[in-house]
Amino acid sequence: MAAELVKSERRGPVGLLTLNRPQALNALNHPLMDQLEAGLDRFAAEAAVRCVVITGGERAFAAGADIKEMDRLSAAQMAADSHLSRWDKLGDFPKPTLAAVSGFALGGGCELALACDLIVASESAQFGQPELALGVIPGAGGTVRLARALGKARAMELVLTGRRLGAREALSQGLVNAVFPVESYLREALALAERLASLPALAAAAAKKSVAYALDHGLEESLRRERALFASLFDTRDQKEGMKAFIEKRKPAFTGT
Ligand code: CAA
Repeated sequence: MAAELVKSERRGPVGLLTLNRPQALNALNHPLMDQLEAGLDRFAAEAAVRCVVITGGERAFAAGADIKEMDRLSAAQMAADSHLSRWDKLGDFPKPTLAAVSGFALGGGCELALACDLIVASESAQFGQPELALGVIPGAGGTVRLARALGKARAMELVLTGRRLGAREALSQGLVNAVFPVESYLREALALAERLASLPALAAAAAKKSVAYALDHGLEESLRRERALFASLFDTRDQKEGMKAFIEKRKPAFTGT
């Protein structure tokens, strides 16, 4: 039987995917990423799942792509391998995603967290892109997403020096959303995920799309796109319910339609 490299479970409306290769600090090899991708596909299709949390272990969220899988590859072989494009799938995921990070989040592990919508970290989390020390650069979005998240100076520093950001520094620089003690970070992440899961699902998907679009496009186009998404939600039941509930001074009962 194949090893369970990613544990997948439902916690009410939250889908929880736990990277489970502790002996290699959750290095993201092909079989692990196959299982992560399959878990994401399952949760994308499951209507009852409204938010997905990706986590690792206390010592390591993930210490990067698996160096032992790629050390002998040529440029042509690496270019032909679609492995790294799988990180992008998270960016396009239709439901809110949250990374719950403890310990090492390095290289592809940092990039995996960055591809999620929100990051909750434990006090021990360390974020970094050490690829230059291996003779390469980040290849799963690190240079791009760090530049967007932190701006030029900080992204250049992290990528060029490989310096790691601790949880508190990552919080103060806006890379992560919240930091909690190691004992409670996962519980807190799941509580936040449950709040996200209670949102009207179509509006949450539109909100994600609009923010992502704004990061890729100019102001005018982005504002046009936001207005179009805003208008499109007026054909949903949840918009009628949300506004009616406000007027009637009661809690809305969203159906995700
Ligand atoms: N790939 C493969 N194996 C890895 C790994 C990785 N990225 N990171 C850790 N491991 C393995 C180690 O080889 C070791 O295995 P063995 O026991 O079989 O030797 C095991 O995990 C434990 O690691 P260490 O003994 O090194 O643990 P440590 O506490 O001394 O150090 C660490 C921890 C600082 C995270 C160190 O393991 C390390 O530097 N790891 C590599 C980090 C890295 O360079 N990541 C970038 C990878 S390239 C990439 O991700 C490209 C991209 O953009 C997608």
